[in-house]
Amino acid sequence: MAKPVGAITRGTTWHNRLRRVDRWTAAVHGPALRAAVRPLVVDLGYGASHTTTLELFERLRAVAPGVEVVGIEIDPARVALAKPYEREGLSFVLGGFELPVPRPPTLVRAFNVLRQYGEEDAWHYWDVLCGKLAPGGVLVEGTSSETGRRAVWVGLSPGGPRTLTFSARFGDFERPSDLADRLPKTLIHRNVPGERIHAFLRDFDHAWAVSAPFGVHGMRQRWLASVRLLAARWPVAAHPPLGGPARWRLGELTLPWSAVDPH
Ligand SMILES: C[S@@+](CC[C@H](N)C(=O)[O-])C[C@H]1O[C@@H](n2cnc3c(N)ncnc32)[C@H](O)[C@@H]1O
Repeated sequence: MAKPVGAITRGTTWHNRLRRVDRWTAAVHGPALRAAVRPLVVDLGYGASHTTTLELFERLRAVAPGVEVVGIEIDPARVALAKPYEREGLSFVLGGFELPVPRPPTLVRAFNVLRQYGEEDAWHYWDVLCGKLAPGGVLVEGTSSETGRRAVWVGLSPGGPRTLTFSARFGDFERPSDLADRLPKTLIHRNVPGERIHAFLRDFDHAWAVSAPFGVHGMRQRWLASVRLLAARWPVAAHPPLGGPARWRLGELTLPWSAVDPH
C-alpha cells in the first residue's frame, strides 16, 4: 500500500464533540443520502477514538438507513484501536487525503483536521477532496472547540466551497465574534480589517449588541433577533434546509461562501 497522504497530528477528540455538525449534516444532507444508491460517507481524521465516527454513523443511519460510514485515520495505532468497533455498515481504515475507499463518497466529513495544516495546504486539500466526491456530493470541513459547543464549518460541492455555517451553544459565548477562533484555516488569517469575514463578524457583533434587550427572553431570542437584523445586510440563508427560524433557534447561521470568499 502506498504511504497515506498527509501527516499524523494531535488526536484530540471527545464524545459528542461533533453533535452540532452531525445534526446539521443529517438535516441538510439526510435527504440526498437517503436518495443515493449505496451512499458512502467518509469521516476523515477521526482521531484518538472511534467515538465521533460511531456517533456520525448512528445519527446518519437514523435518517438514511442505507448509509455506509468509513472512518479514515492516518495514524495506524488509532486505526488498530478503532477496529474492534466495526459493525455492519461501519469500518475503520488506514489512509489520508487519497481516501482509500471503494467508490466515490457522497459525503466526506473532515473535522479538526485541516486546522493542523498550513493555509496553502488547506486550500489544496479542499481541491483534492472535492475532486474525490461522487457527483452531487459534499465535503463538510470545519473546526470546533474541545467540547464542541462552538463550531464553524464549510460545505463544499465538487465545484468548491458553497456555504459557511456558525454554530454555538447559547451561554457559551459573549459575542458572535468569539467563534472567530474556530474559523477554518482558509479564513482564520483573513479575520482582519478590510476582509469580508472581518466585516461580517463586526456586523454580527453589532447586531448582537443592538439586540441585547431581547436577552430578557433568553439568549435564543437575542440570537434570533440578531440574525434577522443581520439578514438585512448579509445574504444569511433564510429558508430550509440551511436557514430560517428552525435552524437559527439552534444557535446556527449559514451564509453563502461567496459572501466571505477572500478571493
Ligand atoms: C484533532 S483530531 C480530530 C478528531 C475528530 N475528527 C474530532 O474532531 O474530534 C485530528 C486527527 O486527524 C488525523 N489526520 C491528520 N491528517 C490526516 C489525513 N491526511 N488523513 C487522515 N487522518 C488525518 C490525525 O492523525 C488526528 O488523529
